[in-house]
Amino acid sequence: MVVQSSQPSGLAWRWFCKDSRQVFLVLLCFAKLSFGQIRYSIPEEMKKGSLIGNVAQDLALDLKRLRLGRARIVTGNNNQYTELKTDKGILVVNERIDREQLCGDVTPCSFSLEMILENPIELHRIVVEVIDVNDNSPTFQSNGLDFEISESAVIGARFVLESAEDFDVGVNDLHQYELSSNDNFALKHLSNPDGSKYVEMVLQKPLDREAQSRLSLKLIAVDGGTPQRSGTVNVHVTVLDVNDNAPIFNKTTYRASVNENAQIGTYITTVNARDSDSGPNGKITYGLSKMKAGIGEIFVINDSTGVISVSGNIDFEKDKKYEFRVEAKDQGGLTDTSQVIIEIADVNDNAPVLNVMSFTNPVPEDTPIGSTIAVINIKDTDSGRNGNIRCFMDKSLPFKIEMSFTNYYNLITNSDFDREIVSEYSIAVNATDLGTPSLSSTTILHLKISDVNDNAPRFGETSFSAFVIENNSPGMSIFTVLAQDPDWNQNARISYLLEDSQTSGNPDSSYVSINSETGVLYAARSFDYEQIKALQLVVKAQDGGSPPLSSNVIVKILIQDQNDNAPQVLYPVQTGGSLVAEMVPRSVGVGYLVTKVVAVDVDSGQNAWLSYKLQKATDRALFEVGLQNGEIRTIRQVTDKDAVKQRLTVIVEDNGQPSRSATVIVNVAVADSFPEVLSEFTDFTHDKEYNDNLTFYLVLALAVVSFLFITCLVVIISVKIYRWRQSRILYHSSLPVIPYYPPRYSDTLGTGTLQHVYNYEVCRTTDSRKSDCKVGNAGSQNVLIMDPSSTGTMQRMQSEKSILDEPDSPLEVSSIRCD
Ligand SMILES: *[C@@H]1O[C@H](CO)[C@@H](O)[C@H](O)[C@H]1NC(C)=O
Ligand SMILES: *[C@@H]1O[C@H](CO)[C@@H](O)[C@H](O)[C@H]1NC(C)=O
Ligand SMILES: *[C@@H]1O[C@H](CO)[C@@H](O)[C@H](O)[C@H]1NC(C)=O
Repeated sequence: MVVQSSQPSGLAWRWFCKDSRQVFLVLLCFAKLSFGQIRYSIPEEMKKGSLIGNVAQDLALDLKRLRLGRARIVTGNNNQYTELKTDKGILVVNERIDREQLCGDVTPCSFSLEMILENPIELHRIVVEVIDVNDNSPTFQSNGLDFEISESAVIGARFVLESAEDFDVGVNDLHQYELSSNDNFALKHLSNPDGSKYVEMVLQKPLDREAQSRLSLKLIAVDGGTPQRSGTVNVHVTVLDVNDNAPIFNKTTYRASVNENAQIGTYITTVNARDSDSGPNGKITYGLSKMKAGIGEIFVINDSTGVISVSGNIDFEKDKKYEFRVEAKDQGGLTDTSQVIIEIADVNDNAPVLNVMSFTNPVPEDTPIGSTIAVINIKDTDSGRNGNIRCFMDKSLPFKIEMSFTNYYNLITNSDFDREIVSEYSIAVNATDLGTPSLSSTTILHLKISDVNDNAPRFGETSFSAFVIENNSPGMSIFTVLAQDPDWNQNARISYLLEDSQTSGNPDSSYVSINSETGVLYAARSFDYEQIKALQLVVKAQDGGSPPLSSNVIVKILIQDQNDNAPQVLYPVQTGGSLVAEMVPRSVGVGYLVTKVVAVDVDSGQNAWLSYKLQKATDRALFEVGLQNGEIRTIRQVTDKDAVKQRLTVIVEDNGQPSRSATVIVNVAVADSFPEVLSEFTDFTHDKEYNDNLTFYLVLALAVVSFLFITCLVVIISVKIYRWRQSRILYHSSLPVIPYYPPRYSDTLGTGTLQHVYNYEVCRTTDSRKSDCKVGNAGSQNVLIMDPSSTGTMQRMQSEKSILDEPDSPLEVSSIRCD
């Protein structure tokens, strides 16, 4: 407690007079003149009843005076801060005194009060000064301070902070601010022009949202009192993002592989980039960048996940590897790129392709072994085993395959060809790759073998036999030789020629001619068996190759006998006039050989097989003729009654068909003595008359024959002219015409017609006399049929035994081979 001397103070007065109660003002102003004042100093916030000052003592008033004078306190307002204890003469605190409430910022702070005494009235002024006590802390208005500061804020950026308030005054007032420790901000104390203080936060170090996105600071305000009081407010700094970070891929190169022909949508790999920014600045979209043309059609990247997958057709054969860059981009436009390398794995999806680069076709059959026929190029666009090719073909074919260069294969002959056996080959060349599963393809080469004249014409037999019956018509076809040539076309075109040789001093060509194209042998003349029995010809067949090849065959033409000669009686000799008779004695018995008729036949075989028969006889009972041998024998005893003159007519017949015969008259004289015979045989002269008659008949017959001959000649000429005109018509109608006629054939016989069939069979006989020819072993024989109306020839086979018998058939010559 401070007691000050009661010196009137002009200031206090002034303050007092300003009070609103004018009535007391006049009174007090008057009283003042009479009395002094006292002054006390007390701290604020004293308890009720605390002593302010001993008024009685200080005013030198005794307690009695106070009681009698009914001392009391008078204040200008309602506040009764103080109470006067009259019994002790002291002033005490009546209610709480708050300096801040009483005075606010005004210093010094005091209030005054008056003590009035009555009897006599005394007025004393008491001034109580209230001294500040540090009872208030600095306080902030808000609970917390929130700042949003971009991380891009530059150093030195200032942020004004809220000021704190302290109701105390003087040293107890706000003294300074402090900021909790941090790296980024510092405080700067500043004063307003009116002297009030404030602080700013100044950025000292750049903010990094990515390092620290929120700062929590404390701003502390302290006063100067003792003990010191302080107030705190939280400062929240939110660092605002700035797109200061680009996305970054977590690899510089991504490698992956995928099979070719992978399905659309097949996963390949994932690229990943990070952006430490937040929000849109950290939102990454992926894309393909710096693409080669076409990559966008094959691969696709998911813009949000970075998954790269297949979106098109991948062909290893087009590209084995794809390289491109992917880009990551945030919303702020910052980017990063990374490389992606995708290897394509081969799949065996391509079959080998065969290309025939050259192909020699046809090849001649004499092509030597080892000749290259074709060159084949085989490609497989796959790689590795998938493109590794094996090439092969059917082992049974006479070819082999050899590789010449990479991918080139030669087809080489591996054995000799024979066009006559195989004229065409289908060569399937198969190429297979080694992939799994392997693919293959085949090409087929159709190779033709061309002909070389390597085969001579060949006849079916080394020799042939043909039979022709004598007296044939010239130009008749006898036989056909036929050769085969397995070559082709011109090399197989056969011409038949007759080789030069001679038979009986005449060239063979004077006997037969040959049609060079058909091989038909024609008789060039009419044969006479009795002159020539056989011809041996050499026929040459020659092909049209270059050089030509040929071969020969022997053709035996056997002339066959016809019964064209009657038997000739050699004995007994028939003379016109003289009489020859055989003598038979009367004494002879049975079986007496009278004579033997001897006859010959120049024909052969059956045609020369003679038989003898008795045709007429004077006495048939007396003689017989041996059928085989012509022996005339007696068949009974000759008697005296028998006539001397016996006349026998013996007919000699051959066995031909038809048979020819000759008769001979045998005179037999049955007598014992020659004179007897003579007398009897004068009768034989009668036969002269008979002979005269015969001469007449002969002349007559000659005349008739001559007439017939002339008639025939006329008929033949007419027919020939008619035929000639017809053949002209045939030429114009271009009907097939035999290109070759043996000259004699056409000269002499326009038609070659023989209306009868001659079947001839030669039989094996034991009689060695006649048979020239034996029937051959059971084989086939050639039969030539000549059709006179068409003048063509036809050959057919006939068994040995079957003999054609139709009477209307054209001329047939059956030939039997002779061994
Ligand atoms: C890159 O990111 C992907 C996806 O998060 C992850 O699978 C891969 O392991 C990362 N690579 C590296 C090298 O960190
Ligand atoms: C990317 O992938 C996500 C998640 O798998 C999917 O939902 C989205 O449809 C895909 N985007 C495209 C463009 O395919
Ligand atoms: C080629 O040969 C292989 C193996 O013998 C066979 O499997 C395939 O079918 C053949 N290819 C053709 C097209 O014939």
